[in-house]
Amino acid sequence: MTSPERIVIIDYGSQYTQLVARRIRELGVYSEIQPWSRISLDETVKGVILSGGPASVYDINAPTLDNKILAHDVPILGICYGLQLLVQYFGGMVKPGKKEYGKQRIISDHPLFPEKELTVWMSHGDCATALGEFFSIAKSTDGVVAGIQHPIRPIYGLQFHPEVTHTEKGQQMLSFFLGLCKCQSNWSLQDYFQQMCAEIQKTVGASNVLALVSGGVDSTVALALCAKAIPQKKIFALHIDNGLLRKNESKGVMDALQGVGISVNFIDASSHFLEKLKGIYNPEEKRKLIGDLFVDVMEQRMVYLGLDPSNSYLCQGTLYTDLIESGKGGADKIKSHHNVDTPRIKAWRESRHLVEPNKELFKDEVRTLGELLGLPKHILARQPFPGPGLAVRIIGEVTEEKVKLLQNIDELVVFELDKASVPYWQAFAVLLPIKTVGVKGDQHSYEHVVAVRAVDSIDGMTADWMKIPYETLEKISNRITNEISGVNRVVYDITSKPPATIEWE
Ligand code: XMP
Repeated sequence: MTSPERIVIIDYGSQYTQLVARRIRELGVYSEIQPWSRISLDETVKGVILSGGPASVYDINAPTLDNKILAHDVPILGICYGLQLLVQYFGGMVKPGKKEYGKQRIISDHPLFPEKELTVWMSHGDCATALGEFFSIAKSTDGVVAGIQHPIRPIYGLQFHPEVTHTEKGQQMLSFFLGLCKCQSNWSLQDYFQQMCAEIQKTVGASNVLALVSGGVDSTVALALCAKAIPQKKIFALHIDNGLLRKNESKGVMDALQGVGISVNFIDASSHFLEKLKGIYNPEEKRKLIGDLFVDVMEQRMVYLGLDPSNSYLCQGTLYTDLIESGKGGADKIKSHHNVDTPRIKAWRESRHLVEPNKELFKDEVRTLGELLGLPKHILARQPFPGPGLAVRIIGEVTEEKVKLLQNIDELVVFELDKASVPYWQAFAVLLPIKTVGVKGDQHSYEHVVAVRAVDSIDGMTADWMKIPYETLEKISNRITNEISGVNRVVYDITSKPPATIEWE
């Protein structure tokens, strides 16, 4: 996408690169990510941010700082690995040092920091031991350099991540940087919407588009955006019941979409998916298999609808989070997302016959885009649900019996949390592959363990486990063990992301 002024974020492989990009957009300036090995800067680029990354600057094949960046002569902000690259370039020294992961206090009286003492979020093993041309502007209470400034040029570095919500006043620090870049701050998601419409029109031309809709926020917004960009008669929407959805989900989805005037084709492929999942235990194998089955069923339906798969486009609700967790742009692969990284979907990706209007956005931005598109609240407020569905919440082999069991538990958990008005971002149950001993009605029992998970998040990149009132947890536990036959133990997941992910597989 083009814009009259931009901030470029150079990606060195951090899980948070896109988060930096969206924070800049939240401040009203268009931002764009470029890989560290292919940099292109023109007069519209008003500032450059160097992302974090998993490497050490002294590794043999470590990503390097391209001379083009310094030659461009605009303000530069290095974050974590970005700071370390700057220090190395300007004659300083980076060494394995005091590791700091998670929250730290920093102290500074520099105007970049809105307050003298702040809590920030660190994630580094290396640190700067000599600063070369730079001088220190902040230190952590552990004595590690937390911020640096160049004496002549507008170049700054932060050892911590201002982009994550766990850093206090991080947005004000980024705003300070944008001030140095003299940006206008008048970009909005409305501009994104218009630019995306133009991009879809250019990509698709006169071809047909088949949109896969799960009924969730992302795929519904992607379809609605497509429908604004190209004629309705060129768009075919398809909902596939893979047998791994929540209880009565498909019916609800079809009714909701019909209710907003979207006509959707429906296929019940549950038995096909469940048959193929037999004997599969490994999470990656499950994810890839499910992703490929989606493509299989979808391609068959294309032919049935009279569409030529080699000359049609597939529209998906892919989020930036899906791409980054699948290892895009050098980030470490966390898991294969069904819509990104399976052999069959990769073939579509390589043919460039994919339309993914949300691919630069996070969940909450997609919700805002959905509001701009006029979609109703009951669709936009739905909690996230993974494409591979309950298969990644049934640890181990998936069977029809386990799916039914988990559907009933999931319904009960969500009902009780809603009844207690717990403001979760996502909540669900996980069926564990172990049985434990219990006593029910004075009798020995040997039954399943269920884990309940409820998290608060903004964008799914980081998440906190929710401090649910004990009374609500007690109610959930009592109801599950009393009403669901086959379960005698309930545990509550008290892990945040990171280090855990939200889903268990
Ligand atoms: P994790 O488990 O990676 O999840 O912390 C972050 C968010 O993404 C959802 N999720 C998925 N969504 N396909 C999807 O469409 C997937 O393969 C997938 N895996 C995770 C997850 O539910 C959470 O909201």
